[in-house]
Amino acid sequence: MKKKNFMLIIVGLVIVTCTSCGSNESAKNKEAETKRGITKSAWGTTDGKQVHLFTLTNKSGAQIKISDYGGTITSWVVPDKKGNSSSIVLGFDSLPGYLAKPPYFGATIGRYGNRIAKGKFKIGNDTYTLATNNGKNALHGGLQGFDKVVWDPSPVVDSVASLTLNYTSKDGEEGYPGNLKTSVTFSLSDDNELTIEYNAETDKPTPINLTNHSYFNLTGDVNNNILDHILMINADHYTPVDSTLIPTGEIKSVKGTPFDFTKPGEIGSRINEVKGGYDHNFVLNKKDNSLQLVATLSDSISGRKMEVYTTEPGLQFYSGNFLNGSIKTSNGKAISQHAALCLETQHFPDSPNEPSFPSTILKPGEKYHTITKYKISLQ
Ligand code: BGC
Repeated sequence: MKKKNFMLIIVGLVIVTCTSCGSNESAKNKEAETKRGITKSAWGTTDGKQVHLFTLTNKSGAQIKISDYGGTITSWVVPDKKGNSSSIVLGFDSLPGYLAKPPYFGATIGRYGNRIAKGKFKIGNDTYTLATNNGKNALHGGLQGFDKVVWDPSPVVDSVASLTLNYTSKDGEEGYPGNLKTSVTFSLSDDNELTIEYNAETDKPTPINLTNHSYFNLTGDVNNNILDHILMINADHYTPVDSTLIPTGEIKSVKGTPFDFTKPGEIGSRINEVKGGYDHNFVLNKKDNSLQLVATLSDSISGRKMEVYTTEPGLQFYSGNFLNGSIKTSNGKAISQHAALCLETQHFPDSPNEPSFPSTILKPGEKYHTITKYKISLQ
């Protein structure tokens, strides 16, 4: 195990010295806090490995904290329309919250985001059997997906605060074929744009579907649920699912259904018509894999708005249906149903078993490269 000491990376002129400043901090620290940079601090251990927490700060003082445990975004603090700052994502202040296996709060998901039916698929004549962890299905990479491993960090010093995490998933891990070399780069721009860039290469054909599982609540307070948030998804179609949330294979029009978010609409207005709540893959209106605006989310309490851009063909809109109050935030608030929502950019669930869906098989010699951006502004 490599023991790494506290390290400070300076981007621009001023050093950021605190990862969680109190209210009595000096004016000097306050000034420093408003400057672009990255800090790295020790954040406990798991499996004998040192875990770190990185704090990315932009010029205006907005901060994103990311751990190399699970490539997890633990907080994203931005001001609301009154100038009050709070985190717009669910997360914990310390590592034990994550070791208790919350439902993927903020995590990097891999090797395959969402479900693979019965944990089985074929490539050519070979059948592969995955670890199943969601009834009979495999979900989000299996028992120890990319959200539960310690990644190897390499902070990047550039014109924006940026962090790259690397992880090599071994041939056979969770049942997946091939050694998969993966890297994920998180960059925070000065105008509150979080860009996540995923890269991977393999030495055997393998399915791959990487995403981030942040749970957003733009009010910054889990006591307000997300049913009043206004959502737009640029998708004329979605993929209906069976009772175990596996796509039926159909690509269905959203027209005249509660899945029609082509015009901004209140999430709660039709959620009761969807059994169990929203947990569906939307087929984005895209002709190619260029980076395009695919969704917007806004909330009138905070005045915050989020735009989602991606190169991916799909978006899983999950309205936090299985949150049930049993998990509490670091300051003791119960995280109830619909306390937050996920907008997971992705290829479609169960693609390895649905030949009509865009392929998720990465072959040796090919480069997997996808980009997703979440941009926060005030309206
Ligand atoms: C899935 C949900 C699941 C949640 C947390 C989402 O991506 O679609 O069904 O409950 O992740 O595991």
